Amino acid sequence: MQKFTTVASLKQAVANAKSEGKTVGLVPTMGALHEGHLSLIRKAKEQNDIVVVSLFVNPIQFNNKEDLAKYPRTVDADCEKIEKLENELQPGSNVIFAFIPSVEEMYPEPVKDEYHFGPLEEVMEGPQRPGHFSGVAVVVRRLFDIVEPKRAYFGEKDYQQLAIIRNLIEQIKYPIEIVACPIVRADDGLALSSRNMRLSPEARAIAPAINATLEQAAEMAECEDVDDVKEWVMDTLGSFHEVNAEQCPNGLKFEPEYFEIVNAKTLQPIENWEDAAEDGAVGCIAVWLDGVRLIDVVKF
Ligand code: PAF
Repeated sequence: MQKFTTVASLKQAVANAKSEGKTVGLVPTMGALHEGHLSLIRKAKEQNDIVVVSLFVNPIQFNNKEDLAKYPRTVDADCEKIEKLENELQPGSNVIFAFIPSVEEMYPEPVKDEYHFGPLEEVMEGPQRPGHFSGVAVVVRRLFDIVEPKRAYFGEKDYQQLAIIRNLIEQIKYPIEIVACPIVRADDGLALSSRNMRLSPEARAIAPAINATLEQAAEMAECEDVDDVKEWVMDTLGSFHEVNAEQCPNGLKFEPEYFEIVNAKTLQPIENWEDAAEDGAVGCIAVWLDGVRLIDVVKF
């Protein structure tokens, strides 16, 4: 693994690799790497000669200062994980470039760019996190401009983000293939997330109920209406602490922010299953647990 902290040094190394005919894949991350990120890096290494992994907590995509301050920063542990993975994939090589810029390096000038995504950002995360997707688009475009990768890798857990990035590619017309990678889950079903490390042991113990509820919702979808499934999911998680009081000490509870069932491509809420017969339907949820905001997705 090679580490880069400046745009110029990374660009030079990427240019050298490309001049040798090597293909370059990009895995944008905010660090605090877990198996989900490592699965993106693995996939990227399968499909490219060189993989650039960015580790950058992007301040302009946080609409909540406290969330930004609390976001885990574990650069040394992240680099160790990348080195270990590189040794498994291609021992003794320098095929993974870790890009760890400062905020000043990424944004030497105040950021004025804004991106808009129409109906795609008017649902779910959009209204809850004003400015979030524009901030994501700014940093992703900056990374695209620096690396000019052949392919870029994003996880399906951030389902709406993935649709936004695909739309960004259409808007800016870059010839970059966006590769979507499946959610990686812990053995108990909890979707892996950098935020999980902020959960208390009690909260971590009940967190798998999110996925379990979504899996049951997928079964219900075979015979229940969209609205009934939506209501059931919100009620089940919202009343979890009452039904399972012994597992929820000290006021611990799920506070579901939204659960939407949307067309898998347009992300517009559907009213009937037939509305998504062609594109498929997905259910997207955001839940607060123990002061930590968790998201998850189920395909119907
Ligand atoms: O998904 C993330 O971790 C971030 O939103 C991304 C894509 C790395 C941009 O900061």
